[in-house]
Amino acid sequence: MVEIRNLKKRYGERTVLDLPQLTIAQGETVALAGANGSGKTTLLRILAGLIKATAGTVETPEQKLYMPQQAYAFRGDLRRNIQLTRADRAEADRLLQQLGLDHLSEKKATSLSGGELQRLSLCRVLSQDCALLLLDEPTSACDAAGAALVVKAIEAYRAACGCTVVMSTHSPALALHAADRLIVLNGGNVEADGAPEAILANPETQWAKSFTAGWKL
Ligand SMILES: Nc1ncnc2c1ncn2[C@@H]1O[C@H](COP(=O)(O)OP(=O)(O)OP(=O)(O)O)[C@@H](O)[C@H]1O
Ligand SMILES: [Mg+2]
Repeated sequence: MVEIRNLKKRYGERTVLDLPQLTIAQGETVALAGANGSGKTTLLRILAGLIKATAGTVETPEQKLYMPQQAYAFRGDLRRNIQLTRADRAEADRLLQQLGLDHLSEKKATSLSGGELQRLSLCRVLSQDCALLLLDEPTSACDAAGAALVVKAIEAYRAACGCTVVMSTHSPALALHAADRLIVLNGGNVEADGAPEAILANPETQWAKSFTAGWKL
């Protein structure tokens, strides 16, 4: 479970995140949406323990994994990149296949395309166990087929371990179809929070209505 109370993150005079109360139940899959600069990455990095809140309390499970917005690779081939997490070869190969990268397993990871690299980053994350999975725009570089593989892999991982998932996205498809709860941030504040279909059918604010205009279930 994730429990946030009176959380504020400020940079100088500017408050970039203001969350009076937010609870995420164990096993929930949450999509975080909102415009550039609305605070998605800041929230994920606070949950990951990478940066500190200016005020307030944040409780999370200890065992968590974080995939940053910027994908990266280490030297060596794709299989080796995954095995850096101590996954065995069979597990690395299973993940490569699941993310559609098995034909590249012996290729240099630093030579991958953007979408391939993003899927490799996800393989590395999913080769480890956690109670809280934090993904910053996991499909941003993927084509439609790649994004579908990412969604499936996240869902299979969550089903296997019962972890909580919090992922930011600019993709309506990911927000609507891969999550059971959608939180929309606007200038660091929660503008909408609920089941994706409920937010689309009955947005709480005019802002949330125009933000999700054109989104289709
Ligand atoms: N280290 C920092 N110093 C000052 N301001 C920062 C810092 N990190 C983030 N910000 C500001 O905080 C706000 C929220 O940034 P954040 O990265 O959380 O946005 P985001 O919702 O993830 O946006 P995007 O969709 O572009 O990834 C932005 O206006 C950003 O400029
Ligand atoms: Mg971001």
